[in-house]
Amino acid sequence: MSELLSALDTAVSVLRQRAGPSPDVAVVLGSGLGDFADTLGDPIVLPYASIPEWPSSAVIGHAGKLVVGTHASGARVAALAGRAHLYEGHHVSRAVFGVRAMVRWGVPRVVLTNAAGGINTAFMQGALMLIDDHINMLGTNPLVGPNLDELGLRFPDMTYVYDRDLRAMAMEAAAAVGVPLQRGVYLATLGPSYETPAEIRAFRVLGADAVGMSTVPEAIAARHMGAAVAGISCITNPAAGVVDEPLNHNDVMETASRVRGQFIALLDAFIARMVPR
Ligand code: 6GU
Repeated sequence: MSELLSALDTAVSVLRQRAGPSPDVAVVLGSGLGDFADTLGDPIVLPYASIPEWPSSAVIGHAGKLVVGTHASGARVAALAGRAHLYEGHHVSRAVFGVRAMVRWGVPRVVLTNAAGGINTAFMQGALMLIDDHINMLGTNPLVGPNLDELGLRFPDMTYVYDRDLRAMAMEAAAAVGVPLQRGVYLATLGPSYETPAEIRAFRVLGADAVGMSTVPEAIAARHMGAAVAGISCITNPAAGVVDEPLNHNDVMETASRVRGQFIALLDAFIARMVPR
């Protein structure tokens, strides 16, 4: 068996022992958006360091824990607070380990969230954006290397990365709770430096509405394994050159925590719609 498969199965056996059968949905929480994990009932908290093979993340604002608990809707939810980014030096296959472990456990739906810069000038700071599609500018792909047939196809389709039914449910959920939800294309860069204004102008021409440093590898890996994927960006700041001001990580964290209430309300309504009861 491949090293990756045995690492995944080692992690999954610990997840099963400590948290039981697979949850209905896994939610990966972006920078500053981790509070949702603390809203779950009867939580089982697994610090990443306590799960074998799980990569840890050291960036400020990333707690680094898996919380499995019961959502207000009755759904069982796995919340991943903190993720491994490529810019930390993690190999792309490590960066998607958590999402792969979720899907290998049996989780059928994955919601990926992130903090992102706004390229679309119609987006206000603090807007939430449903990801309709993505552009991979990372220069790598989590599926590089020998294909693991046990996980999925060598050449998986990416026409429908972001599940259409889940997207419809997210829009319904947003309308139901009165949270404005933009939609658009998320473009991933390697980071950790932010983009230049020229890069942002180029990305706008390419069709990107938001830019960030995550999500795309996880979306590809989850789709490869057949999970239904959804993505939500919190537009924490205008991307470089959209306004004549420098960017900094504090603003990203501040905006994310400012929209915390709306973000959680949207996720709550979204999860309530996606899990059939
Ligand atoms: Cl402007 N760029 C990238 N790559 N990631 C971000 C961002 C910008 N704002 C928040 N995250």
